[in-house]
Amino acid sequence: MKLVLCKNYEELSKKASDIVATIIRDNPNAKLGLATGSTPIGLYQNLVKEYNDGKLDFKNVKTVNLDEYVGIDAKNTQSYRYFMDFNLFDRVNIDKNNTNVPFAQGNLEESVKDYDKLLEDFGQRDVQVMGIGANGHIAFNEPDTKLNMHTSIVDLTEETIIANSRFFDSKEDVPKKAISMGLADAFNCKTLVVLASGLSKHDAVEKLLNTTKIDTQFPLSFITLHPNCYLIVDEEAYKG
Ligand code: PGA
Repeated sequence: MKLVLCKNYEELSKKASDIVATIIRDNPNAKLGLATGSTPIGLYQNLVKEYNDGKLDFKNVKTVNLDEYVGIDAKNTQSYRYFMDFNLFDRVNIDKNNTNVPFAQGNLEESVKDYDKLLEDFGQRDVQVMGIGANGHIAFNEPDTKLNMHTSIVDLTEETIIANSRFFDSKEDVPKKAISMGLADAFNCKTLVVLASGLSKHDAVEKLLNTTKIDTQFPLSFITLHPNCYLIVDEEAYKG
């Protein structure tokens, strides 16, 4: 794992977007694994800027996303499909048919099977971007006695529900379940880019940097197993 220390969120976003933009420039058919949440927004803004400046072409880029809330319509502003369209897909020349976010309504068992099949067909991504939960979750793989390898319906922890309530009118409005990629699929990428910004992530970053154990109760520890992982952190997340 390569630790990349940044002064602030702007620098973190630039480091992350440089990695992704280079991958797209090197391979116009690049396959990207993307993430939602507040952390990658700056990265997406930089990619949109590069596209607007004529330095990036998304015409043949394909994407998969890590997760989606259960029971929220894709048109709802809180859905992760909406987030991706709003922050990136609607702002660049990507073919929406080449973008994939789990469908988390109706028959969830079918959705899980469909997403696993899609991931299998999609194959290894050139890069996977992910944020981290304050509790060390990655995608929506929450601390537990065991972790899923493949796509699953997961229960969000109380901590995650509280953390994500900042995006909703109230805590009660936060979905209690999500469909999430499992760890084996989340790590099926040539380059893994893990982002941590702000004080709320400090404890998780400190724990990761001081642990010698892989622990299902701390899913973030599993990123140390990836052969080409960048942990990009800003000063607040690093120093507290
Ligand atoms: P955040 O969420 O980027 O909004 O902090 C990250 C996560 O929960 O994985």
